[in-house]
Amino acid sequence: MKLWSGRFDKNTDQLVDQLNASISFDQRMFREDITGSMAHAKMLGRQNIIAPEEAEKIITALQGILADMEEGKIPFLISDEDIHMCVEAELTRRIGDTGKRLHTARSRNDQVALDFRMYMKKEVQEIRGLILDLLEVLVKLAENNLDTIMPAYTHLQRAQPSTFGHYMMAYANMLKRDVTRLEDCYERMDELPLGSGALTGTTYPIDRHFVAEQLGFARVCENSLDGVSDRDYCIEILSALSTLMMHLSRFSEEIIMWCSWEFKFVELDDAYSTGSSIMPQKKNPDIAELVRGKTGRVYGSLMGFLTIMKALPLAYNKDMQEDKEQVFDAVDTVKACLPVFTAMVDTMTLNKENMRQAASRGFINATDCADYMVKKGLPFRDAYTVVGKLVNYCIANGKTLETLSLDEYHQLSPIFEEDVYEAIKLETCVSMRLSFGGPSKPSVLKQIESIKGFLESKK
Ligand code: ARG
Repeated sequence: MKLWSGRFDKNTDQLVDQLNASISFDQRMFREDITGSMAHAKMLGRQNIIAPEEAEKIITALQGILADMEEGKIPFLISDEDIHMCVEAELTRRIGDTGKRLHTARSRNDQVALDFRMYMKKEVQEIRGLILDLLEVLVKLAENNLDTIMPAYTHLQRAQPSTFGHYMMAYANMLKRDVTRLEDCYERMDELPLGSGALTGTTYPIDRHFVAEQLGFARVCENSLDGVSDRDYCIEILSALSTLMMHLSRFSEEIIMWCSWEFKFVELDDAYSTGSSIMPQKKNPDIAELVRGKTGRVYGSLMGFLTIMKALPLAYNKDMQEDKEQVFDAVDTVKACLPVFTAMVDTMTLNKENMRQAASRGFINATDCADYMVKKGLPFRDAYTVVGKLVNYCIANGKTLETLSLDEYHQLSPIFEEDVYEAIKLETCVSMRLSFGGPSKPSVLKQIESIKGFLESKK
C-alpha cells in the first residue's frame, strides 16, 4: 500500500512505479539520508516537537539501519520508491508508531535537497584531493625537466622553444584554477536546506541552525522556496568538472600526439597503454583517449542538467529527480579518470633527445634571431622582415639559421656578427626568456614555487 493511499482509490500502475522510482540511483545517498534524519530527530526532541525519549529511540534505530545498510543487509525495493521512503519504512518496521513521528516538520523535498548537498560536499572534496595529487606529479615533472628543451606550438606549428618543465607548469596552473573553482562551489553550497518543509517552511518551532551545526553546514538557506528548489550548486559543480575535463582532454590530446611515431616525445608505461588485437606492433594511448572521450559525457551532463532546470516553476518538480543521475555520472567519470591519468603521467618516460631534435627544426629560433638584430639597433619590424627572408633562403637551400654562413647572413644585413650563432642557440633562446612566466630556469622555478606554496596551503 502506498504512503498516500488515503487520498487515492487505487494503486499506481506498475510501469508508473518503475518510472517514478529513484531508488536504483539514490540509494547511494543512504548514509546522508540517515545522518540527516538523526540530526532532524535530535532537533525535534530538543525542541519538544516530539518527546525526547522518542527522538532517542528513533536515533538508535536509525543507527542500526545505517549499520545494516553498510553491510548490504537491507534490500532496496522499487516499491519503496526512493531512499527517503525506504529508510522511513524500515524505521517504522523496526519501532512502529514512534518511527512514524520522524517525518514531523519535514518533507521529502527537504530530504532530497539535504542528502544531495551532503553527498556532493563530500564528492567535491574528494575530487579536489585527486586534482591536488595530479598537481604534485606535475611539480615533480617540472622540477626534473627545467632544462628539457622542446618546441612550443601555435596552430600546431613549431613556434618558439620552451621546456618540458615550463609546459607542465602550464597545466599545473589550469588545474590550480580547477581546485579553486571547486572550492568556490563548495563555499556557496555549504547551506542547510532542511527545514524548508515541502516549500514554505513549517508551523513547528524547529531550530534549523542547530541542525546545520550538527551536520556541518556553514549556513542555513535563507528562503524555503529556494531551499527546496535550488540546484545551482550542481550546475556549478558540473561546470567546474567540465572545465577540469576540458583541461585533462587537452593534456590527453598532447600525450596522444607525443606518443605517435611522428612526435615520439614520450612513451607511456606498459601498465597504462594497450595493444591491438591484430597489429602486433601497436602500443596505444587508450587511457588518454578515454579521458578525452569521457569529457563529452561530462559536458553532456552539464547540458542535460541545465536543460532540465530551465523552465521549472518554483518550487520542487519531479523533473528534478533527474538531477542525480546527471551529477553522479559526471562525478563517477571524473573520479574514474583522474587517478589513472595521474599515474599515467607519473610513469611516462620522456624522450628528451626527440624533443630536442624537434626543437632544432622548424626555425623556432627565428624570433630570437630578429631580437638579436633589434638588440643591435634595428627596429623590430625591419628585423622581422630580414629574418623572414633568411628563413625563406634556408628553406630553398636546405639550411637552418644555425648552418648559414656569416657571408650568407651578410647578404641580407651587415648587422650580423659572429655572436649571432650563440644568440640563436636553443639553450640561449630558453635561458634568455627571463620574463615573468617564461620558460627560463629562474622563471619556471618561480612558477614551481608558487604551485608548491598553493599545495602547501591545502595540506
Ligand atoms: N525521489 C525524489 C527525488 O529524487 C525525492 C523528492 C520527492 N518529492 C516529491 N514531492 N515527489 O527528487
